Amino acid sequence: MRKLLIAANWKMNMYRQEALELTRGIVEQTRFFTFVDIMIAPPFTALEIVKSEIQNTQIQLGAQDVFFEESGAYTGEISPGMLLDAGCAYVIIGHSERRQYFGETNEIINKKVSVALKNHLIPILCVGETWEERNQGRAFLVLNQQILFGLQGIDNEKLSSIVVAYEPVWAIGTGKSANKEQVQEVHAYLRDVIKEFTSSNEMAFNIRILYGGSMSPKNAQEILSLKDVDGGLIGGASLKIDSFSSLVQIAESVQKVKEQ
Ligand code: 13P
Repeated sequence: MRKLLIAANWKMNMYRQEALELTRGIVEQTRFFTFVDIMIAPPFTALEIVKSEIQNTQIQLGAQDVFFEESGAYTGEISPGMLLDAGCAYVIIGHSERRQYFGETNEIINKKVSVALKNHLIPILCVGETWEERNQGRAFLVLNQQILFGLQGIDNEKLSSIVVAYEPVWAIGTGKSANKEQVQEVHAYLRDVIKEFTSSNEMAFNIRILYGGSMSPKNAQEILSLKDVDGGLIGGASLKIDSFSSLVQIAESVQKVKEQ
């Protein structure tokens, strides 16, 4: 049985003092929820302070990116080993903002997924089409390539721990999430692609596929209840104690229903 994961992507927000207060509030308001997994990905500068606040809770730490080399002369980059050393369990890879603003290609993303797995981090591989691609009827082709290239060369044993996040670019930060039919259709499709790629029904069934893109306490119940949705990757609504904690609470009640 897949367990819902509510993952916060703070993006380039939160000074350390703000990060401390936000984390403290989230810990306080979510400490009795045990049916869901929770992850917080702060900016690198706040990893340590968030880590110290989530000690002895069920909340796990994540990073928003990683470099694909393990050490060396790569000024400005952060290695997977460094993330592990900082206490990270997860790392977000291939977010559309990295593809769009930092030129990340499927090839780069594939290297990052591979090196993250090698270093015992759980990659959250992000995929998603632009509005233009959807309008041109190319959404599924784009998603197919993002998944297949992203996972190329990675064996089944390693793949079993990865998480995929479907984030339609047009829904990110726009207040306009994909509707439930669109979300379920894509998630079922991604699971099928993974099934074909791994030649394993079991693997495809067990991999968690999150939805991201304007998820909020208003639409979470509907989206999280969908058959192939296993959680959310949350941007804007993860920056406030109340909205993020509500999302965790909603996920908790949805998970209980799914387990019945
Ligand atoms: P929003 O929730 O702000 O739309 O962002 C989604 C996202 O990009 C999470 O990675």
